[in-house]
Amino acid sequence: MQENADQRALKRTLGRYPTGVAVVTARRGDGTPVGLTVNSFTSVSLEPPLILWCLANESPNLPVFRDAAHFGISVLAADQQWVSNRFASPLEEKFAGIDWFEGEGGVPLLRGSVAHLHCRHYSRHPGGDHVILLGQVARFDNTGGEPLVYLGGDYHVAQPPGERGS
Ligand SMILES: Cc1cc2nc3c(=O)[nH]c(=O)nc-3n(C[C@H](O)[C@H](O)[C@H](O)COP(=O)(O)O)c2cc1C
Repeated sequence: MQENADQRALKRTLGRYPTGVAVVTARRGDGTPVGLTVNSFTSVSLEPPLILWCLANESPNLPVFRDAAHFGISVLAADQQWVSNRFASPLEEKFAGIDWFEGEGGVPLLRGSVAHLHCRHYSRHPGGDHVILLGQVARFDNTGGEPLVYLGGDYHVAQPPGERGS
């Protein structure tokens, strides 16, 4: 899609809001793992435990995530910028050389990430040129470590308050 000047200005404005970076994953009907980089991931509800993320309508993975009973979220670590770039590209072989394990419902989860969420499909909602996907968290691991941060269209590393200015 060709963006006009107003859309570019809106993107720059929204880019003032720092987010983490996650890879959302699922399995095709034949078991092949699929995944993509997102920064639209956010928490929604504690009771029941719900999260959401947004998927572009034009994504070739839309039918997979529409039909999947489960999906996984791997919250990327500061040293996983290359993983973010890999999963943000329209490659067929995104998982080549990626260390992953199977979570709830067989979802692929990426090792080395700072947190994992094993989600069951909860609901789906239209959202303009994206679809909003809600998942119910069935299991989670809080591995810890420095998260990767996305701000102003670029990657950053969060600096803990105690280390500011040192
Ligand atoms: C930091 C970052 C955040 C992104 N966030 C999203 C997102 O929230 N939703 C989305 O559909 N695409 C997002 N993308 C773009 C997809 O990762 C990219 O279009 C990717 O090629 C989609 O994979 P697919 O072509 O296999 O569907 C993001 C890309 C980057 C680098």
